[in-house]
Amino acid sequence: MLIDGHGRRVNYLRISVTERCNFRCQYCMPEKPFSWVPRENLLSFEELFSFVKVAIDEGVDKIRITGGEPLLREGLDSFVRMINDHKEGLDLALTTNGYLLEDVAGRLRDAGLKRINVSIDTLKADVAAKIAQKDVLERVLAGVEKALEVGLKVKVNMVPLKGINDDEIVDVMEYAKARGMRIRYIEYMENVHAAAGLKGLSGKEILARVKERYTIRKIGREGSSPAFNYVTDDGYTFGVIDPHKHDFCESCNRIRLTAEGHLIPCLYFDEAMSIRDAVKAGDIGRATEILREVLRNKPEKNRWSEESDEHSARAFYETGG
Ligand code: 5AD
Ligand code: SF4
Repeated sequence: MLIDGHGRRVNYLRISVTERCNFRCQYCMPEKPFSWVPRENLLSFEELFSFVKVAIDEGVDKIRITGGEPLLREGLDSFVRMINDHKEGLDLALTTNGYLLEDVAGRLRDAGLKRINVSIDTLKADVAAKIAQKDVLERVLAGVEKALEVGLKVKVNMVPLKGINDDEIVDVMEYAKARGMRIRYIEYMENVHAAAGLKGLSGKEILARVKERYTIRKIGREGSSPAFNYVTDDGYTFGVIDPHKHDFCESCNRIRLTAEGHLIPCLYFDEAMSIRDAVKAGDIGRATEILREVLRNKPEKNRWSEESDEHSARAFYETGG
């Protein structure tokens, strides 16, 4: 079992398989980064998998594949299959922007993927084009329909932004609700890479919009999820992710691995250690030691607390949020 320096059990690994993305979302990667990690620095699926095995053997039972946009990495379904075949009953999920989903949803399901999260910030093509800086909506929605059709469980993420999509908070909920998908509203997190002048809505402001249509009741957090859940008077459950409070850090159960082999204990800190050399050398013992050391040093709280205006320089596209 993996226990961190603050006594928290860590059983959730998020793997960013690429930092590249085919969108340029204003809150994430409005401009092409000055430099990408050169492709030759990326760990292969086999190399990533050799670490994933260590993590699973140490007690990780929940794995999410993220990016950048993970579907940009060719043959992602083979990576999913490797993980799924290693141990039965893993909770295996993917976060995607949905653009390339329609063609691969079936293959991902066949490989053992159970769940996906898709970002849908708007249902208006022009607003989607403004946020992602590309005309994406039609393909994203087609990808979601396909994923549902092949039996994947789908959750929707929405980042409400003032003056951009904050008039669609209920509309996107209705879209998700009609398809049996849960929506989670994510407070916009300030970061140095995002477009200047963006203003997010607070959790409170988001709830106020929902309350214009529904009476809602608090449910609370489910396990270690950062989302706080609510239910509407007609029985629909939705979540709000509010990183500006750090109460969810108390039950944080996650670590992150980047495509280059950086092991990151907390999204909101710049600290990381690399498992790259260990993995390249096939030194599983060393990889395990590094994993344990990273966990010993896992921070207690994130840095988006009200008292602090210090922000991590790490990009969301590197770690997949
Ligand atoms: N603030 C909040 N959420 C963000 N995401 C990316 N950047 C940010 C940000 N600055 C979210 C996207 C997507 C997930 C991968 O991360 O909405 O759902
Ligand atoms: Fe790409 Fe996701 Fe970042 Fe948008 S939020 S630029 S889709 S990685």
